[in-house]
Amino acid sequence: MRYIGGKSLLVNNISDCILSYTDNVQSIFDIFAGTGVVTQDLLLKGYNLLSNDILYFSYVLLRGSIGLNHTPTFDKLGIDNPIDYLNSLNLYDTNLNKSDLFIYNNYSPTGNCNRMYFQPHNALKIDIIRLTIEQWFSYNKITEDEYYYLLASLIKAVPYVSNIAGVYAAYLKHWDKRTFNNITLTDNPINPTGRSCKCLNSDYLKVIETPVDLLYADPPYNSREYLPNYHLLETIARYDYPEIKGVSGMRDYQHIKSPFCSKKNVEAAFENLMKLSNARYLLISYNNEALLPTARLTEMCSDYAINDSFRLIEIDYRRYKSKIPNNNSGLKEQLYFLQLK
Ligand SMILES: C[S@@+](CC[C@H](N)C(=O)[O-])C[C@H]1O[C@@H](n2cnc3c(N)ncnc32)[C@H](O)[C@@H]1O
Repeated sequence: MRYIGGKSLLVNNISDCILSYTDNVQSIFDIFAGTGVVTQDLLLKGYNLLSNDILYFSYVLLRGSIGLNHTPTFDKLGIDNPIDYLNSLNLYDTNLNKSDLFIYNNYSPTGNCNRMYFQPHNALKIDIIRLTIEQWFSYNKITEDEYYYLLASLIKAVPYVSNIAGVYAAYLKHWDKRTFNNITLTDNPINPTGRSCKCLNSDYLKVIETPVDLLYADPPYNSREYLPNYHLLETIARYDYPEIKGVSGMRDYQHIKSPFCSKKNVEAAFENLMKLSNARYLLISYNNEALLPTARLTEMCSDYAINDSFRLIEIDYRRYKSKIPNNNSGLKEQLYFLQLK
């Protein structure tokens, strides 16, 4: 999934850094996990992983894929292939009324509103799939693992039919070609390692003290809050009929504003990360144009580092994002590594 600050192109730099500078690391906590690409990569490279993110849809994505050691079998449901079944579901197969359908009524041009996030046929499909998964779970026809597996499959499928330019803060004014496709759920990758990967859904301060060998922290790096940019994925995951506002139909997010997105609070947010962590090692992903200047973060890391363990690794953004030809920006991805005192 395309995600602001997603690290899919940096996973090898992250694992190389861990291999080069640490000793006997077995457990790693990905405390701002987002799409989970780093958790997944490190898990497959042999570490024991714990993940966390404040957004529920991120939790769903992880919990319903690499949070599972086995592909669910849906024994109680009595449907051979629930993914195929959901893909071919119609409104008349369900006991739902159109008035129950939150996405159809609020995010597609149906007469009730003029927002153009989804074509009506996909909005309706998202609703009936989401509500059917909920009914199966509340009637005890599927287990909790099966519930998250199906939810993750739905969340993964939504961006492929969304009428957006990457984020949900606004919709496009003309229908993009991909929105005409039918939303299609697919199977999720699961955790094949035999080791467990526990997933959490908390503010980082509530879980920061968890004892692990290495804390990997990839916080937001500028003032763009995540919830407003991904509000529709959050609403589909939660399906809590929220009060929504404005042209984009935004749910409230004041209660989960991130201190890492505020110039005033970002330094204290990093201070808490370093002060409260019980990890032996800390690895931070950041960049040289982020809210907290490199000089200040370097100073803080040096203060919290044992002896001369602090390293700053900079990765040229032009090479990192090689699809941009002749990009002369001086943006550098950074890895701050230290052994904590
Ligand atoms: C740069 S992204 C992480 C990207 C991730 N490494 C990936 O590759 O997909 C930062 C993440 O931090 C999360 N976040 C922001 N503030 C948080 C907080 N206070 N506690 C926990 N997670 C938070 C956001 O929801 C977002 O998913």
